[in-house]
This record gives sequence, structure tokens and C-alpha cells, in this order.
Amino acid sequence: MCGIVAYLGKKGAQPILVEGLKRLEYRGYDSAGVALLGGGAIRIKKTGGRISALEEILDEPDSRETLGLGHTRWATHGRPNTINAHPHLDYTGKIAVVHNGIIENYGTLKTWLQNEGADFASETDTEVVANLIGYFYAGADEAQQKQSDDQNKFEWAVQRALQDVHGTFGLAIVCSDFPDMLIGAKKGSPLILGVGNNEYILASDAAAIVEHTAQAVYLADNEMVTVSSAGFHTKTIDNVAVSKDLKQIEFSLEQIELGGFQHHMLKEIFEQPKALSTCMGGRIDRANNRIRLGGIASHLRELTHTKRFILTACGTAFHAALVGEFLFEQLARVPTETEYASEFRYRNPIIEDGTIVISISQSGETADTLAAVEQAKERGATVLGIVNVVGSSIARATDAGIYLHVGPEIGVASTKAFTAQVAVLTMLAIELARRRHISTDEAARDIDELSKIPDKIGRILEQSDRIKQIASANIDKNNWLFLGRGFNYPVALEGALKLKEISYIHAEGLPAAEMKHGPIALIVDGMPAVFIATLGPQYDKIMGNIAEVRARGGKTIIVATEGDENIRQYADHLITVPDVPELLQPMLTVVPLQLLAYHAAVLRGHDVDKPRNLAKSVTVE
Ligand code: AGP
Ligand code: GLU
Repeated sequence: MCGIVAYLGKKGAQPILVEGLKRLEYRGYDSAGVALLGGGAIRIKKTGGRISALEEILDEPDSRETLGLGHTRWATHGRPNTINAHPHLDYTGKIAVVHNGIIENYGTLKTWLQNEGADFASETDTEVVANLIGYFYAGADEAQQKQSDDQNKFEWAVQRALQDVHGTFGLAIVCSDFPDMLIGAKKGSPLILGVGNNEYILASDAAAIVEHTAQAVYLADNEMVTVSSAGFHTKTIDNVAVSKDLKQIEFSLEQIELGGFQHHMLKEIFEQPKALSTCMGGRIDRANNRIRLGGIASHLRELTHTKRFILTACGTAFHAALVGEFLFEQLARVPTETEYASEFRYRNPIIEDGTIVISISQSGETADTLAAVEQAKERGATVLGIVNVVGSSIARATDAGIYLHVGPEIGVASTKAFTAQVAVLTMLAIELARRRHISTDEAARDIDELSKIPDKIGRILEQSDRIKQIASANIDKNNWLFLGRGFNYPVALEGALKLKEISYIHAEGLPAAEMKHGPIALIVDGMPAVFIATLGPQYDKIMGNIAEVRARGGKTIIVATEGDENIRQYADHLITVPDVPELLQPMLTVVPLQLLAYHAAVLRGHDVDKPRNLAKSVTVE
């Protein structure tokens, strides 16, 4: 994915665009650029690298340039260099475009446009859009312009070009002949128009808008918006007018700022007690020992009687889904399968009557997960979503859902979204279990324990400095193992993913018992093995696995239950978590692993919030 932001108003656009890009930088950071309109021509500045590199090459802001486009890229087509950076100008020099998404038929269109005499400067798919609009704009005759009274040549050319484009796009477009006009169009990538006082900000994400206004229009797929100082109108890209309501952006500037923390990731790790309280507050009904999940209330009967769940997600959300599988099977006693969304959609999945598909996604924009939702819907399943970003594509595509309500997650490494996803799955499993087979007393006990989780996370966070020492003692090690069993097996996978993605240390997560079937060959003297060995039914078994690692010279970093004195002697490093029933442990045991990865990445000098090659959500397949 990438971030796009555009401004039309009375103020100089440049500083507003740069500020907006900084807020969107977590979406992509391969290259950055702006296009500015003031004195008739389009002025473009762009460079490979981050927004800070762009700032270095920008001229002094010109207050007459009150219209502009900005882009921060996560490259799909073409290397991350200056030429491929957006905005892209068409071959006539009149049209500038920023784009989020992929133009699937760009090869064919490029050849055709080249035959028509259009020059191309970059390797990107995006330049095809610029040139196609430019081509139709240059050739638009009066008859075409008169297709409809309220349509000008610029808007017509955009619509005409988009008819030929296959793929996904969030686009912001300007034309030098229309210095008071900005056009946005959306299909498959998010696009929001912030409506301020005589000013408009069009962006991929509300983070670039909240500073200016809390009022916004969320475009749907195949819709476009034309903005001028006189106002804006929305249409489909086939030129059918659509009226859209102004919606309130649901988060504040404070939530997306660092607030004294060095990184968003650390802030988000430390936010977990509060985030989980918000996520669960209002949903836990202690008086009646029930869980109330408003978003899926109308599906409760179906959920209670469902024959099978399929949980589908990617990355960290997939690990939360794996925890969900344990919860649904062990607590609610419903057969459950967990599938990578990217595999599910190409597997020709068998979805029988009575199957409910639940897709889990922080961003609600992950292309693989969205495609899995569409696939499941096509096959007639009821599809529910567990999503953080309100109004996102997956939230809209599912039949119903449960929002995480943990506020924006900016750090590319997902942390608070994971614990909240698990909290939502736990609430759902408890409620289903209560409706299906467990006694009110049992449900009351689980609910009581669940409501204490936020405070217990707080106790783990107090060990942050010690966890930093553990990271430091092992910082020169380039291969790590993460091992857990049962409910803590997905946590082992998550711990390994966290370490890999931000510290670039190779790590493998495994169900501990699998180690002896091959990976044990990796263990050499001093290799760190992180065990989640909390008290529970598999405690004795995992103690055996710990012994196997120690016998081969491996170094053990053990996440154990507070008060478990026995385990101390087997741990080179010990981290403790409060005692909770096994089914609630993942929300606690993951926290030290998040901190371990965070500190390791900082100690290795990496940019924790913007790990190399990654972007916050992957809106391409
Ligand atoms: C997690 O730290 C990752 N950056 C990544 O695996 C992420 O969880 C995955 O891409 C899914 O994203 P989503 O939750 O927004 O769908
Ligand atoms: N496909 C475009 C490019 O590679 C946009 C990428 C994106 O959306 O991240 O430049």
C-alpha cells in the first residue's frame, strides 16, 4: 500500500501535504513526492527515500500554490527510486496523478499508448493512468464533453480512462488547465475526503485529515469525487451521481501522535491495558454473566448453532485466528479451521451449510483477506469480520462484525490489535460456550478472569527494562527459536514474526513438540530458544522440551507463571506473567515477546516503526 494525500483550499498546499505524508508514512516509505499547482503549471518534487529526504529537496513553500498532491510509496511496479516516485505527470505535462494500488492491465495499455505516441519515463503501472487520462483529455472533442451538462473535459477524461483500467486504485488527480479542481477515484484502495472550512483534504487514511477536520466522506468502490473551491460532488466512475453523507472521523490527533514514546510500536505495546479495557468495556455484562457483542447480535442464533467455523486472516491476525481456533474448539466445542486468507481463496474451499467464516484484520484493507471474504460470500457463507478500522473495506464487505475499538495502530508491527483480536475471539467463544453447554458459574468465572486481563498486562509491562537486558545479552545471535504448546503455540509463531519483521533476526516459531522432528538440528551452543512455559496442562511436556534444548547447549529465555520457582533453574533468562487460566494466557504471554522484539530492533539500530520492505497493510496480492 502507499499513502496519498491531496489538498485544495486557501492555504499554501506544500506544508499541509508534507505533514499529511508524515502521518501516512507508515503505509509505505520507499519514495515520496508532491505536485503543486499555483501559477498555471504543475511543479513536481520527488525523490527516493523517506519524507525527510523529500523535505531536503523541497523549495520554500509558495503560498499561491493552494492545490497539490502528495504520495509516499510502497513499490509494487518498478524500483523505489526517484523516477518511479509519484506523482506521475502525463506525456502532455498537463495531468498529475498519485496512486495507491495496482493497474493489472498496465502492460497492454502501455504498449497501446506508446503506439499512440505517448512517452513513458518510469517503470510504474501508475504512469499508465496518467498517460491514459492525458490521452483522452488531449483528444476530448466537444461531443464527448457534452455527454452531460455538469461534466467538464477533465472529469470526462478521468472517467473515460478509468473505464479501460483493470485493477485497484485510490487516485488523486490534478490538471494544469483546472487550477481549482481536484479529482479522486477509488476501487479497492481506500480514499477519504476530509471536508473542512473552505478546504478539502483527500487522503488514503483519516490520519492525514484529522488535524484539519473531523468531517469526512468515505468513497466506495467505483466512486469518484470532484472537488473545487465551490464545493464537491460525488459520482460513480460511470458518471451516475451518488449522494454521500458526511461522517465523523472517530479518532483524535492525540491517538496518532507519539505522546512521549520513542516509537509508535512501544506506545501501542504500553497502550494494551487501556486498549483492551476499551475493547471489552461495555461488552462484558458482569451483572448477568454475559457477553454482549452488538455488531453480531442479529447473527447470535446462527452462531450458536453453527456446525463449523473457518477463521481466515494474514500475518499477526492469522496468529490471533489460531488462538481463536483453540478457543472455539476447546471452550465452545465447535469444529474450527484456520486458513491463511491467501491460501483459502485459491483452494477451492468447501463451505457446507452451517459454516460461518470469520475474517480478522486490523486494517480491514488487506487484499488477501478481502479476497477471502468475497470468495466465502460467493459460496454462500455468512461472513463476519473482526476489524479495527471502522468503515474499512473488510468491515463493509462482511455481513456483520465486531470492531476492536483500540484506536489507530500506526506501528507496522501489530501489537495491540493482536491482543484485542484475541480478546474479541475470547469474548465470542465464552458467549457461545455459555449458550451451548457450559454452566452459568463456569461462564462467570471466565468472564471474571477476562475482565482482570488489562491490569495483568500492566504488570508485565513493568518488566520492560529487564526484557531489554535480555535482548541486549543475546543481541549478537542471528538465529532464534520460539516454542510454545497448546494455546501458546500461536504466541510462539507471533513472537518469531515480531522479531523477524523489525529486528531482521532470523527466528522460527514452532509448536514445542515439533522441534524434535527436525528443527532441533539447528540448535548450537548459545542459540536463544524462547519458551512459553506457563502453568497449564502441557507444563510437564514443555519442561521436557526445555531440557532437550539445554542438553544441546541452547540458551533458554523462559516466559513462566509468576511464583513458579521450579522453572528458575532451567532458565538462562526468566520473564514472568500473572497466573491465568490457559485459555486466557495468549493475551499475556505475547506481551513480553513484543517487548523482546522491540528492544532487539532498537538495540540493532533499526527503524522500528518502518521496517525495511514492509508496509502497514498489504493492499496488493
Ligand atoms: C504484523 O506485525 C504484520 N505487520 C502483518 O503480519 C499484519 O498482521 C498482516 O499484514 C495483516 O494485516 P491486517 O491485520 O491489517 O489484515
Ligand atoms: N503500483 C504503484 C507503484 O508501484 C502504487 C503502489 C502502492 O499502492 O503501494 O508505484
